Amino acid sequence: MEAVSKEVVLVTGGAGFIGSNLVERLLARPDLRVRIFDNLSRRGVLSNVKWLRSLADRSRVEIVEGDVRNAKAVRQATRDVSEIYHLAAQVAVTTSVEDPASDFETNALGTFNVLEGARASGRQPFVLFTSTNKVYGSLENVPVAVSGTRYTACRPEFRGVTEQEALDFHSPYGCSKGAADQYVRDYARIYGLPTVVFRMSCIAGPRQFGNEDQGWVAHFLYSILQGRPITVCGDGYQVRDVLHVYDLIDAMMAARAHRQVTRGEVFNMGGGMERSISVIEMLRECERRTRRPLHLKYTAVRPGDQPLYISETGKLEAMTGWKPRRSLHDTLDSIEDFWHANQLEITGEEKRRDFLPTAQLMTEGVA
Ligand SMILES: NC(=O)c1ccc[n+]([C@@H]2O[C@H](COP(=O)([O-])OP(=O)(O)OC[C@H]3O[C@@H](n4cnc5c(N)ncnc54)[C@H](O)[C@@H]3O)[C@@H](O)[C@H]2O)c1
Repeated sequence: MEAVSKEVVLVTGGAGFIGSNLVERLLARPDLRVRIFDNLSRRGVLSNVKWLRSLADRSRVEIVEGDVRNAKAVRQATRDVSEIYHLAAQVAVTTSVEDPASDFETNALGTFNVLEGARASGRQPFVLFTSTNKVYGSLENVPVAVSGTRYTACRPEFRGVTEQEALDFHSPYGCSKGAADQYVRDYARIYGLPTVVFRMSCIAGPRQFGNEDQGWVAHFLYSILQGRPITVCGDGYQVRDVLHVYDLIDAMMAARAHRQVTRGEVFNMGGGMERSISVIEMLRECERRTRRPLHLKYTAVRPGDQPLYISETGKLEAMTGWKPRRSLHDTLDSIEDFWHANQLEITGEEKRRDFLPTAQLMTEGVA
């Protein structure tokens, strides 16, 4: 018999890559009940939900099939929660260019709905929003030059992009996430909600069903393992910093634990200088570890692509003591392990929804 009522934590997008890893971590806190709110639109989500269902009984993990564009459904899902991790999003720049209206509705309006739900609940829940490095645009004030197989910053003192960098939204995705990012900040100022924004670069690790448009590290590894050609946009010297998803979740937990100081703040989040790598270097590393040949095709660089993006994460480190612990090699190891354990699900079609009989449907009212 249930003796005490548990606190409820809401994870929007909880069936996705980062969301499912976060839910796993939250379930380790026995005092919590986790509510996943997700429209289950992303490939791989059913596999993630099935896995989460195997970790805890139904009284501890509730799955609401709903859409963040539906204000009523969001209001219902936020009514009784103490923490909200708002991850649900349209996640690809390419898709945002094809369909900017849907991108706006999910990312900007969806986030607004979550904030309004949090405000209306009257419970002042902790709200963490996953924003993006794309809010800093193409970083024209960080001049770069080619050195070997990568772009490097011309300023020798460059240690990564800080939160002081000017906002300069590029692409519909950059604009919709950027607008949401600013709303989340402002709800801390205007309504006193304890909100935190993470502006994230590249996050990688297990449970990522990567494709060309999002999840490039997993996409490279899975393509090489299947002998598939890979398209490189531009010269491949673009540099990114990669953070293991478990380190990101440590950072989320640290931001929550220290919410008295992190509330209302924005943090850049990524692997930093130590975990930075160029596209072509990553491909060579994947080739080396899989011992499979690369089949590369080159195409034009994507509009607005940053030649170099590296996060400076010192602000969160100073406020909470958090530090990334996993190396780039650890990240690749865990993606490879995930591949070996889930090859059929990564390469196959998802058809089974029968493990979701108690999921509530909340999709009415979505345009
Ligand atoms: N993975 C990264 O490298 C990265 C980098 C920067 C920012 N982010 C942000 O982190 C968050 C999580 O990203 P992820 O990599 O786990 O992506 P993901 O696609 O795996 O997860 C997003 C989840 O949101 C759900 N979703 C999409 N539209 C929805 C809607 N309208 N209503 C309800 N649910 C919806 C999807 O089904 C999916 O489960 C996103 O907000 C993304 O913009 C991710």
